[in-house]
Amino acid sequence: MLKNKCSWLAITAAMFLSGYTSGQNNAAPAASLKETFKNDFLIGTALNASQIEGKDTRAAALILQQFNAATPENIMKSMIIHPAWDRYDFDLADKLVDYGKKNNIKINGHTLVWHSQLPAFMRNMKDADSVRKFFTDHINTVARRYSGKVFSWDVVNEALNEDGTMRKSIFQQKLGDDFVTEAFRLAQAASPNTELYYNDYNNEQPAKRAGCIALVKKIQAAGVRIDGVGIQGHWQIGKIPLKDIEESILQYAALGLKVHITELDIEVLPRNFQGADVSQRMENNAALNPYKTALPDSVQQQLANDYEALFKLFLKHSDKIDRVTFWGVNDGQSWLNDWPARGRTNYPLLFDREFKPKPAFYKVIATKN
Ligand code: XIL
Repeated sequence: MLKNKCSWLAITAAMFLSGYTSGQNNAAPAASLKETFKNDFLIGTALNASQIEGKDTRAAALILQQFNAATPENIMKSMIIHPAWDRYDFDLADKLVDYGKKNNIKINGHTLVWHSQLPAFMRNMKDADSVRKFFTDHINTVARRYSGKVFSWDVVNEALNEDGTMRKSIFQQKLGDDFVTEAFRLAQAASPNTELYYNDYNNEQPAKRAGCIALVKKIQAAGVRIDGVGIQGHWQIGKIPLKDIEESILQYAALGLKVHITELDIEVLPRNFQGADVSQRMENNAALNPYKTALPDSVQQQLANDYEALFKLFLKHSDKIDRVTFWGVNDGQSWLNDWPARGRTNYPLLFDREFKPKPAFYKVIATKN
């Protein structure tokens, strides 16, 4: 307790000494995540449409100062990039690629094959031939356009259930379990100059991890390239599964894979389930939204401690981890304000609603000292 109080004081002092003044908009933190971890792993953020278009002027400077990797939060998902059978809309994705090139930010393409956020014409599609045509055309077209222009692809997102079995998604139902290997085979041909990843949430949990390893082995046995596994990292305060994460990093690396932490955030609000299935929802009510005006100090401190523990673990295995990406720039922009319950006030990231670094930011930076 005393130790906690002392470290709390130390962080507050560090914030003061670093020249950080509250009340100042766009106050630039003295430290930079990408600089601090430049010999360890890339530090990424998810970018929304207005950030990609440069309309979010308050975020703009902070993004360039803090991050050297970025993942489009939504604009490369099939519902946006492939809105009709024979029509693709590359406008925002092209802008993102240009932005990355200009600013030395490595782009992770997210995502080629996912059962959620599908274009309207594909939802409830019954015809297997049509699903195969969509699947093939989509990968060929999108992966080819951005080959070598995006650093990595989340080729397949969330193909597994919690128990490690295959999720009964539209792709699994119409194309069979091998759709994952097929997706990598197509991506490999269309995007020879881009790293290829399988991405999921909870795939650090033992049962799902075993399913993930089986998937990877199947791809490898087919002679198809897979460069790594993305662990999304949507975790909950006070319940970070550090042991399972470490074991997963080791087991994935033992398969010859690189590990990316792809969508890191820490939920601080009440939740009755684990993971990040976007179709799972809860009704908002006052009890589920306890920190409407501010985050209590004790929770702020726990959040900082959780982030510190995570980054210590990531550093311990930095030879196996190539990238750590946060799912959003600041708390106000996080998807967790609207999922799994709409209209909540959440605090899952390192920067607050004013783009100011939170105590967790300083604790993360301090893991290098
Ligand atoms: C989320 C976005 O952040 C939201 O804006 C959108 O409404 C739903 O999807 N796993 C993923 C991400 O792979 O694509 C999801 O992103 C979060 C869970």
